Amino acid sequence: MSTVLVTGGAGYIGSHTVIELHNNGYDIVIVDNFYNSKPEVLNRLETITGKRFPFYKVDCCDKDALRKVFEENEIDSIIHFAGLKAVGESVRIPLKYYKNNIDSLINTVELAGEYKVRKLVFSSSATVYGMSEDVPFTEESPLGVCTNPYGWTKWMIEQILRDYSVSDPDMKICLLRYFNPVGAHESGLIGEDPRGIPNNLFPYISKVAGGTLAQLTIFGDDYDTPDGTCVRDYIHVTDLATGHVKAIEYLGKCEENVCVFNLGTGNGTSVKEAVAAFEKACGHEIPHVFGPRRPGDIAVSYAATDKAADKLGFTARYNIDDMCSSCWKWQTMNPDGLPD
Ligand code: NAD
Ligand code: UFG
Repeated sequence: MSTVLVTGGAGYIGSHTVIELHNNGYDIVIVDNFYNSKPEVLNRLETITGKRFPFYKVDCCDKDALRKVFEENEIDSIIHFAGLKAVGESVRIPLKYYKNNIDSLINTVELAGEYKVRKLVFSSSATVYGMSEDVPFTEESPLGVCTNPYGWTKWMIEQILRDYSVSDPDMKICLLRYFNPVGAHESGLIGEDPRGIPNNLFPYISKVAGGTLAQLTIFGDDYDTPDGTCVRDYIHVTDLATGHVKAIEYLGKCEENVCVFNLGTGNGTSVKEAVAAFEKACGHEIPHVFGPRRPGDIAVSYAATDKAADKLGFTARYNIDDMCSSCWKWQTMNPDGLPD
């Protein structure tokens, strides 16, 4: 069976994708520098799958170290998750974001070219659609103006990969634009484990539900949406992981050099609805207050899902209640996240 190199495979989405790849018969090699993850993830993956995956503690920005991974393994395809992703931090330290996200991608692609790896999947984001209000976003929607350096790294890397594909038409590249990944593995053994105070809604709600944080602030209740709060397309991380397996399969048979897919559910959920769903899952109230809008937030974002359904055969299986209950299970089993 073919071997998939998963960069950033110790991270939130990467670790869930490793499980789905394994369940579908792939061999896996994981690379991560643990910048935003912990070695304990590898133990948890072993508990879940019964397999210890080959692992390299390597920074993808270190090309010589990364070369060793290509040298020692017969890699058939790559899923490149490695990257920094905190929107606010990217505004404070933009050069670190540009350097890490772009250097790590370029090294990975250069080595892929050198070692004749023919399939590459890249973690892009719905953030590339910018501030447009023309929802649902289809893969043909124009790319927008990003509101932060993190978003621009995704935008730029999409362009870099399009340019690269012209120079190496044998490489098949898939850009996956994630909407809002949430939830955790059904075992409760792995999930989203942010360092410090979370920025994103679900990790924040989880900490409030678990009693570590006192209350949630809902950023804005005067948007032009049914209940005044922002609407997002939350997708269960296990569904997202399945989307990556479908993307790898698709790259094995597609005609085009670069393909682009949204990964979302196509359903919008408001912040108020998300809070209510989480309250149902945890069985008690989530204390919350309303605050001002957060700069850079758009009112509504959700995916057109037809292309992923038609071409990848991908449709999300889990709904918002499943997302909340898996999040809550992960939170109650790991109130302080994974041990160091
Ligand atoms: P994450 O931080 O949990 O995982 C990323 C992993 O990459 C971490 O384990 C980190 O240690 C590692 N990493 C970072 N830079 C590295 C480098 N130079 N070399 C080796 N390893 C490195 O984040 P995630 O939520 O799993 O996101 C995975 C990818 O998906 C990222 O590229 C992210 O930008 C993208 N994405 C995430 C979201 C989201 O909401 N979570 C949305 C859209 C896109
Ligand atoms: N929100 C709150 N309170 C909080 C945190 C979030 O009200 O404490 C609200 C936000 O204002 C937003 C919604 O919850 O309306 C979702 O916010 P998140 O931060 O969870 O997610 P975003 O939609 O802002 O961003 C996510 C990813 C980014 C990605 C973007 C677009 O975190 O990486 O989607 O794909 F770029």
